[in-house]
Amino acid sequence: MSIFPLSIAPMMDCTDRHYRFMLRFLTRETLLYTEMVTTGAIIHGDKNRHLDFSTDELPLALQLGGDDPQALAQCAELAQQWGYTEVNINVGCPSDRVKNGQFGACLMARPERVAECVEAMKIVVDIPVTVKHRIGIDDLDRYEDMKNFVTVVSQAKADRFSVHARKAWLEGLSPKQNRNVPPLRYEEVYRLKAELSDLEIEINGGVRTFDEAEEHLRHVDAVMIGRAAYDNPFLFATADEQFFAKQHDTLKTRRELVEAMFPYIEHVLSTTDQWLSRVTRHMHGLFNGMKGTKAWKRFLAENSYGPDANVETLKRALEVVPTETLDATFDATFDATFDARSEKAARAESKQTQTETKVD
Ligand SMILES: Cc1cc2nc3c(=O)[nH]c(=O)nc-3n(C[C@H](O)[C@H](O)[C@H](O)COP(=O)(O)O)c2cc1C
Repeated sequence: MSIFPLSIAPMMDCTDRHYRFMLRFLTRETLLYTEMVTTGAIIHGDKNRHLDFSTDELPLALQLGGDDPQALAQCAELAQQWGYTEVNINVGCPSDRVKNGQFGACLMARPERVAECVEAMKIVVDIPVTVKHRIGIDDLDRYEDMKNFVTVVSQAKADRFSVHARKAWLEGLSPKQNRNVPPLRYEEVYRLKAELSDLEIEINGGVRTFDEAEEHLRHVDAVMIGRAAYDNPFLFATADEQFFAKQHDTLKTRRELVEAMFPYIEHVLSTTDQWLSRVTRHMHGLFNGMKGTKAWKRFLAENSYGPDANVETLKRALEVVPTETLDATFDATFDATFDARSEKAARAESKQTQTETKVD
């Protein structure tokens, strides 16, 4: 098993510094990821803006988008210098922007190139260099194609392969559709681990509960959770105990979590020009599946956007949520309620993506 049997997936516009800071009140051990940053943005842009983080967010992996070995090596070196725990290459994202740049999921067709990238990075850093990829792309989607990709890249000593267990269609499906429409193929990820047992293999895609994560861990080394971690951050309140056998003084109720964020929010509002909503948008899902969730979301949507919104606004938002919801500890009842909701939400998302033409 990995030293990180559990991670939260990199998600653009979601796993930013504010979200990661909040998650650390719930889990100290789960590996977190940044949003994807392209090598060009780091090399030619504002390095501090792209790379800075608080040490409270550790352990943290920097996810890079790129296909140039030297540029990736340069960014990996910066990642190590900045104090990241790991550096990861994105070989899974199918958006047009990424395709035009010749990186992301289209690199599944160029395993030798990905190996060169990993090799160049490993020469310059000691931190783990990992790869996040798909089962396949377009017609290159047989199990053997994925095994070949992983075999070639493993020769460059990549430290972990995180497999989003569905293929991506580069033409015809939007990134959002590519997260829902192609079927999940968990068995092929299990087979990959069985046949290449020396490699560290992490499974990703569609995992909504810790029971499901436990089931996957019978077959692979680690589980990466994306949307469920964003829709329902409190899921992670039991992660340290359940997956890392560690007892930390993490928070037990959602009220405690929101209140623990007050000093951080005051700091953000007083030192940046960001509005309250930049932090609270990550809290919308906090009461999902519970009484009061609609009122909470509505209050935040109506009151947290604007220069005058502050911690007092958030205190008022708490007042619209029933006490039993605010002070509920994580338990199986909640889990079951959330499952029911999440299936409904997933169906709605899937229906929406079938009619969606816009690329997100
Ligand atoms: C809003 C959003 C943004 C994402 N951005 C990234 C990204 O920057 N890099 C990446 O490798 N994957 C990205 N993904 C894909 C996730 O990391 C993950 O592979 C996918 O959501 C499947 O896992 P899940 O079913 O647990 O959500 C994104 C997913 C979502 C929903």
